[in-house]
Amino acid sequence: PRLTIIDTDPGIDDAIGILLALISPTFTIAGITTVAGNIGIESTTRNAGRLLAFSDRGDIPVFQGAAAPISRAGPEPLNLHGEDGIGGVALPDPTRLPESQPAVEWLADFLLDQPAGSVDVLALGPLTNLARLALERPEAAGRIGRIIAMGGAIHEHGNVGPRSEFNLWADPEAAAVVVASGMPLILIPLDVTRRVRATREFVETLSASEKPMAVMVASLIESYFEAQTNRESRPLHDPCVMLYALAPELFRIEELRLIVDTGNGEMAGALTIDPKGSPVQVALGVDGPGALDRLAETLSAVG
Ligand code: BDR
Ligand code: CA
Repeated sequence: PRLTIIDTDPGIDDAIGILLALISPTFTIAGITTVAGNIGIESTTRNAGRLLAFSDRGDIPVFQGAAAPISRAGPEPLNLHGEDGIGGVALPDPTRLPESQPAVEWLADFLLDQPAGSVDVLALGPLTNLARLALERPEAAGRIGRIIAMGGAIHEHGNVGPRSEFNLWADPEAAAVVVASGMPLILIPLDVTRRVRATREFVETLSASEKPMAVMVASLIESYFEAQTNRESRPLHDPCVMLYALAPELFRIEELRLIVDTGNGEMAGALTIDPKGSPVQVALGVDGPGALDRLAETLSAVG
């Protein structure tokens, strides 16, 4: 198994990705770091603890991270994922308090403690914590094996602006720092995540398995349908990060040179392909049905 940290703002689709990672023997989850995004930091941290309690993984520590972007006022929460940020789904209370050490400090200590290159970070929210790590503790940031991050839109329209995707839009400066930092970055943009869509039929397949993880993910997707206007199918953005780590052969990757727009207008967080940009490995294609099969199989495999 690969030593892995999940940096996240749960978030319904974050929650699905986290449950998938917890159940997959491919990952040893060393800790979860939280960031404000889908909802405020107190709620994302609490939701991480609730998901661990549900999975009986109180052994995994949660470290609270950034409450606001690195250098601008935080956007008003959009509350796209319901009042608790996680669709009102029935999850137990956390069985363990979040650690007192702030996320960026723990990330630095942990990375310095492990062999260089041996730890991956799965980034499911705004990139604030990782940007702060790169700025404040570059010697630790340089030891990350890979960052696999959900974010951005390349040839697709955005989901919060004409060209902007939520995670990069929520903290454009952080995204720019991470892209330019030289940390090995694999970006999973909307171009791919919009092709991994849960349908009603998919939800039924999961529920029919009667396995607790699959049934919980089915209710999370149900609540995701409720929270949005399109109720026929929903893109599973964040789980694509885990799916890439589990089955890279399902994805087509290209190296692009990217610049992040750090302006204040409607282009905030938008990506441009530019020869002066930093090289990033970007997922541009995916076998959508294959990815859904892999998700369902993994969730239904364990009792
Ligand atoms: C991203 O934004 C959030 O709302 C989701 O959790 C996902 O990380 C999709 O743009
Ligand atoms: Ca997220």
